Amino acid sequence: MDNLLRVSCGALSPSDAGKTVELDGWVHRRRDHGGLIFIDVRDRSGITQVTFDPSKGETFALAETLRSEDVVSVRGTVRRRPAGTENVKLATGEVEVPADALEILNRSETPPFVIAAEEEPAEEVRLRYRYLDLRRPRMQRNLTVRHQIVKAIRDYFDEHDFLEIETPNLIKSTPEGARDYLVPSRVHRGSFYALPQSPQILKQILMIGGLGRYMQIARCFRDEDPRADRQPEFTQVDVEMTFVRQDDVMQMMENSIRSVWRRVLAEEIPDPLPRLSYAEAMRDYGSDKPDLRFDLRLVDVADVFRGGAFSLFASLAESDANRIVAIRYPNGAALSRRDFDGLTEFVKSIGANGLAYLTFGDGMKGSIARFVDDQMAQRLREGAGVEGNDAVLFIAGEHAIATDVAGRLRLEIAERLGLRDPKRFAFCWVSGFPLFEKDSETGEITFSHHPFTAPLPGQEALFDTDPLAITAQHYDLVLNGYELGSGSIRNHQPEFQRKVFKRLGLTDQQIDDRFGFFMEALTYGAPPHGGMALGIDRIVMLACGESSIRDVIAFPKNQMARDVMMDAPSGVPDQALRDLGLTIVQPPAAT
Ligand code: AMO
Repeated sequence: MDNLLRVSCGALSPSDAGKTVELDGWVHRRRDHGGLIFIDVRDRSGITQVTFDPSKGETFALAETLRSEDVVSVRGTVRRRPAGTENVKLATGEVEVPADALEILNRSETPPFVIAAEEEPAEEVRLRYRYLDLRRPRMQRNLTVRHQIVKAIRDYFDEHDFLEIETPNLIKSTPEGARDYLVPSRVHRGSFYALPQSPQILKQILMIGGLGRYMQIARCFRDEDPRADRQPEFTQVDVEMTFVRQDDVMQMMENSIRSVWRRVLAEEIPDPLPRLSYAEAMRDYGSDKPDLRFDLRLVDVADVFRGGAFSLFASLAESDANRIVAIRYPNGAALSRRDFDGLTEFVKSIGANGLAYLTFGDGMKGSIARFVDDQMAQRLREGAGVEGNDAVLFIAGEHAIATDVAGRLRLEIAERLGLRDPKRFAFCWVSGFPLFEKDSETGEITFSHHPFTAPLPGQEALFDTDPLAITAQHYDLVLNGYELGSGSIRNHQPEFQRKVFKRLGLTDQQIDDRFGFFMEALTYGAPPHGGMALGIDRIVMLACGESSIRDVIAFPKNQMARDVMMDAPSGVPDQALRDLGLTIVQPPAAT
């Protein structure tokens, strides 16, 4: 036993032939063939094939009882597989271990899904039995990549003189536009902590505290409806720096991502990354997070229809409050009537009144062909960049709605044409956002990013005359149509911060109640500062080619914000409520 080696299941190669080894792991697969039993033994590192020969009496008899996911320890001497039986798909596929001894360390119930299966189990089952789901090679790879990315980020910021500083989770509300998760205090009955929507205020106070360069892998909590790229609890790489301008922060963050892509994915991303203004992004792509993996652009064509025979577009073209947008559908002349009906249903489902289209190639056809004369057709072809057998789709209506619908139609076209390759990475910066926006429900002025973002200098007068025209020192990093991160230069002067709060409709009293500590901190020599936060879950999702952040988080909530493995949230004993001074008021029964 002196030369017994404990090896991991993915480590063996032909050079290990002749070595006596111990393998510990799970039964991935079992096959009985030609009187032999073949077991694939699996751990995080991979799989090794173990064979059991009937000549090994007791060991063979024990192997006959093995089932998927039993936990085993096997001993044997590594040998090359007989010629012609190698498995090129497996890293260890040139060797096998004929077992001399087998110990069953634990038995497994029959799992609700087969770990080794190619097809994906239903997500609710995966989340309910997350410990089994985590054994699947895909989840093991995703969590490994996540570890590597976080490590690369930490190393990068460490190399650039940042301090990693933890900020507390039991705090006062830090508004980022979502609802707070509240934690009742037992010691101070009737009072609540709020979990941080982000460490925003605290990182700014660290700057006031003279720490200069801060980063944190920070857990954030937002009570909003989960989506594929949104969880109630998620992780940011949160960064703040003193004495910086917008470009300094963007450069630092861009390089952090460059270093992650280089180290973890062995890929060089463009240097510098493309930069777009918010106005350009909305005009050309109909989104403030444009997917630049493909170059379809929205083209304004109101001029072409103004005064023309198509009265609906002609009248919309009379007002700047509307937009008429054309988008090229490459090779769309080959689409059937049903395809166009499907696209029409799609745009109606997201807020458009309808869809007009023209097809080119063998003459001009389409729903509005009879209203388009040769000269208009020529202008549309040139404007939309029509080639060969393309179609052109038109969305018209109120400016913001037409922009949004056309932006989403652009993505839909790309989806149908397979232009959204998950293995390609198209980053860009978007900046020059408005500081304020109108809340679509209440019509009130609200912040676009968060209330600590500074406007571009020299726009003070607009606060009273046209606040929606103020441009913020706010920048977003976008990848493949996802917002990866967001940041800004902050208001470091207390009078100015108060002006912003007031413009958001807060009274002096409310400002002092909610943010008094922060307003006070700003009065003691707060340095100019700015920063950014990147969403780690989204970075890892895209780096792994996944389409949901749930697949890169060990224990995510489901789409109803529940942890279905632990069954959380759940009720608590009456005594716990009494200790907290809380009474549950049941909602009225549905009638
Ligand atoms: P923001 O709210 O834009 O900015 O968040 C920054 C980034 O965090 C990620 N993110 C999320 N990821 C998963 N689930 C969510 N619910 C979720 N919400 C946000 C996104 C987003 O781009 N304090 C500011 C940053 C700053 O100004 O420095 C902030 O939190 O990737």
